[in-house]
Amino acid sequence: MNHWFEDFTPGRGALPARAWVRSDAPALSLNGGWRFRYAERADAPADLADPALDDGGWGEITVPGHWQLQGWGVPAYTNIVYPFPVEPPFVPDENPTGDHRRAFALPAGFGAEGARAVLRFEGVDSAFTAWVDGTEVGRSVGSRLPVEFDVTAALDPARDEHLLAVRVHQWSAASYLEDQDMWWLSGIFRDVTLLARPADAVEDVFVHAGYDHRTGGGTLRVDTPGPARLRVPELGVDAATNEDVPLPAVEPWSAEVPRLYDAEVSTAGERVRLRIGFRTVAVVDGVFTVNGAPVKLRGVNRHEVSADRGRAVTEAEMLADVLLMKRHNVNAVRTSHYPPHPRFLELCDEHGLWVVDECDLETHGFWLLDWRNNPSDDPRWREAYLDRIRRTVERDKNHPSVVLWSLGNESGTGQNLAAMSAWVADRDPSRLVHYEHDWAVPYADVYSRMYATHAEVAAIATRTEEALPDAAADARRRAMPFVQCEYAHAMGNGPGGLAEYQDLFESSDRCMGGFVWEWIDHGLRQRGPDGRERFAYGGDFREPLHDGAFVADGLVFPDRTPSPGLLDYAAVITQVRLRPEETPAGGRLRLTNHHDVVDLDHVRLRWSVEDDGLEVAAGELATPELAPRASTLLELPEEVPALPAATAERWFTVTAVLARATSWADAGHVLGRGQVQLADAPAPARSPGRGPARRGPDLLVGPAVLDARTGALHRLGAFPARSLELALWRAPTDNDRGEHGEPLEPAWRALGLHRLRHRTGSVEVSGSDVVVAGRSAPAGTDTGFATTWRWSAVGDGAVRLEVDVLPQAPGGLSVPLPRVGLRLELPRALRTLTWFGRGPGEAYPDTGAATWTSRFSRSVEDLQTPYVRPQENGQRADVRWAELTADDGSGLRLEADPAIGVTVRPWSTEALDASTHTSALRDEGRVWLHLDAAQQGIGTASCGPGALPAYRLQAQPVRFAVTFAALA
Ligand code: GAL
Repeated sequence: MNHWFEDFTPGRGALPARAWVRSDAPALSLNGGWRFRYAERADAPADLADPALDDGGWGEITVPGHWQLQGWGVPAYTNIVYPFPVEPPFVPDENPTGDHRRAFALPAGFGAEGARAVLRFEGVDSAFTAWVDGTEVGRSVGSRLPVEFDVTAALDPARDEHLLAVRVHQWSAASYLEDQDMWWLSGIFRDVTLLARPADAVEDVFVHAGYDHRTGGGTLRVDTPGPARLRVPELGVDAATNEDVPLPAVEPWSAEVPRLYDAEVSTAGERVRLRIGFRTVAVVDGVFTVNGAPVKLRGVNRHEVSADRGRAVTEAEMLADVLLMKRHNVNAVRTSHYPPHPRFLELCDEHGLWVVDECDLETHGFWLLDWRNNPSDDPRWREAYLDRIRRTVERDKNHPSVVLWSLGNESGTGQNLAAMSAWVADRDPSRLVHYEHDWAVPYADVYSRMYATHAEVAAIATRTEEALPDAAADARRRAMPFVQCEYAHAMGNGPGGLAEYQDLFESSDRCMGGFVWEWIDHGLRQRGPDGRERFAYGGDFREPLHDGAFVADGLVFPDRTPSPGLLDYAAVITQVRLRPEETPAGGRLRLTNHHDVVDLDHVRLRWSVEDDGLEVAAGELATPELAPRASTLLELPEEVPALPAATAERWFTVTAVLARATSWADAGHVLGRGQVQLADAPAPARSPGRGPARRGPDLLVGPAVLDARTGALHRLGAFPARSLELALWRAPTDNDRGEHGEPLEPAWRALGLHRLRHRTGSVEVSGSDVVVAGRSAPAGTDTGFATTWRWSAVGDGAVRLEVDVLPQAPGGLSVPLPRVGLRLELPRALRTLTWFGRGPGEAYPDTGAATWTSRFSRSVEDLQTPYVRPQENGQRADVRWAELTADDGSGLRLEADPAIGVTVRPWSTEALDASTHTSALRDEGRVWLHLDAAQQGIGTASCGPGALPAYRLQAQPVRFAVTFAALA
């Protein structure tokens, strides 16, 4: 049996696509509560269309919304694989179907003389039929695309109350074109509106607003299908549409200065409000430019996600995204992988973000079938592809923020993509075309890649990349600008390697920059089996086929709290860069203006000097005049006090803040920070303490109480201290797992680093020291680690523990180690960590760009980073000393030599490793302290390259020391 939605064509009854505008014509929102009936299959009779049907027994659903998040059916997550058999255009009989009904009355004055009534759906997933008063008004597919039906004739004049009925099917032929990596969620998830279309309406409007950077003039032409009047009061424009309006002087639009001019287009029947931004996008000598200047995209890929409403995002969530992006120095968004809610683009226009607007298209599941029958190259799908790009471009064509059209994502190659590109080139030559999946770039204007390694980006940046077999194609591509439309997979802890990518992007004008994958974790709020609230990922709805936590790979958590990755990204891409530099006069900071358009007039520079993490002087520096891309060395202010040699570790810090409030942040908002070290700490002068003393079965060394027989640590001062061990294991991060990259976790587990066994060889009192020698190794292998633990009492009541770790691998050991350090267990009363080192957030060898050196304090709870899937987190790096204290001020102080990584948590690494959701972690009533000499870098192998060689922890002899003292 063939259903209408098992068809290659895009539906029937739709009006021609047109721009999304703000109009004064009457409109009736049909959002709100609708009657709802759910079926597992699609073949029930269409009785829902009948106004006489009694729907009293139906449920109620909120539109916009997904039925899976309102009690019917379940969400399902797959990345690439289709969750149904691949036999286009067919879909399984089990095809969840939602019948929606709502009554509405036409507001007074709605149907003025000659007016038509148009029903507009902004987004319905995936296929639907609509009826008004029992008459079918249209059918459509294209989940994230608008569609309009003329319903004038269907409205029964005899009725005061009209009935709108909509039947939505979860699966359709269109599902083959909508295989984006996200939850499968169905329903009417964007606004529904009934629009009055007056006689002589503004049927459509297309703004062409360019800027000539040589003259400062603007070009303006607004096209309408019929005659209309254009007014731009601020520019004194009152002209006919469809004519060129030269403007001798305008202020251009850019993401940095999003200058908009209010405009109005009117006919006798309708007035449409527009906000015009003047800008000209061009590739000049292989460089991406806007308004004559090269522009660097510091971007993110944004899916529309709400933890409670799925893709039915609210305006507040859209605004939150834009503001958070702006506050973290992001200047560009790729609307992966479909056009966003139209309001989002207005917000981008207003606050300033460059946009790559992507068409709702992905056929990635065919990749698993070696691209057999890929729709992209099958003429039967041609009209569907063209329909999608038309609906994208026509809807969004008036947004100055949109600078590139993207044909879609991961849809292989083929003639239908070429046809889309040709259509765009004809309809809107003012913007560039983007498409990543064909590396020969036959139908795009820029060379785009995803997850290319640093080495490959370096080659492309210098136009020395490997040649394409076809010389002409190669020459064409080599002349193109380059963009990483996805890189730095932000899944879990990480991404690592951001700074190195940014340096490459900035090293060459060929590089347009890139878009981190991705903005937000798609976790859905859910109650777990233990009754606790959690963020669900693939499998949590018992989907038979799913891709697990791969859906949680954003820079913000599902509730939009910034993750450490976002803070790092902000620090790496900041347009107000402050970097240390050695000069003959000593360490200084270099200030570089990485804006594309503006100078630093909006920036204030605050400086401070800290000795051992305590401020000794502070003030403000005059902000130098710096054009885009210019830089200067900052002199130390005269007020910096002299420091008697070798009395403290001194840091000079400059923080760049907003001088004035903007639309997206308050004055004082931090834009960037840089630090340079001015003096080293003196070497600690410690007199030896008293030698070890025997007390019953114990050996006392300063505040340490050891078992004289086994050498095990029992106490540190007043606190029981247990389980002191060599620790090589960390709870594998998503990047250690390396689902779409080089995985480390399997090799680690195979070696057994998570199940070390410890053997004590000897416990000796040697002079004033106690030396415990032993070996830690996994079962079943001769690979192991010889350890020497040397305890020496120092000064007045402290103990120094020096640890030597010597890898022994007769068969070789090629895999890097997760970590090398020690761990021990302390009472939970030690609730607060205060440290001098990098902070306030977490940092690993290749992450932590957002951290700086100072003195910080956090509770044990606040030291945890709540990654959706539990994994190693929370390390504070380069810690010189730290104090773990109880509320009464008692506690332990530790001093590291050299500086170490400190991780403190109320559960063990094993528990972290074993648990599947952060909500399931239980406070164990004790504190686990990890002190690490080194950790493996993070990288971004969850999808992309692993840690760069410099950040890999190859096994080698390690020595580190920690001095413990009791705090009264
Ligand atoms: C890309 C894809 C994205 C996402 C990402 C991994 O290949 O375009 O949609 O799946 O990988 O998270």
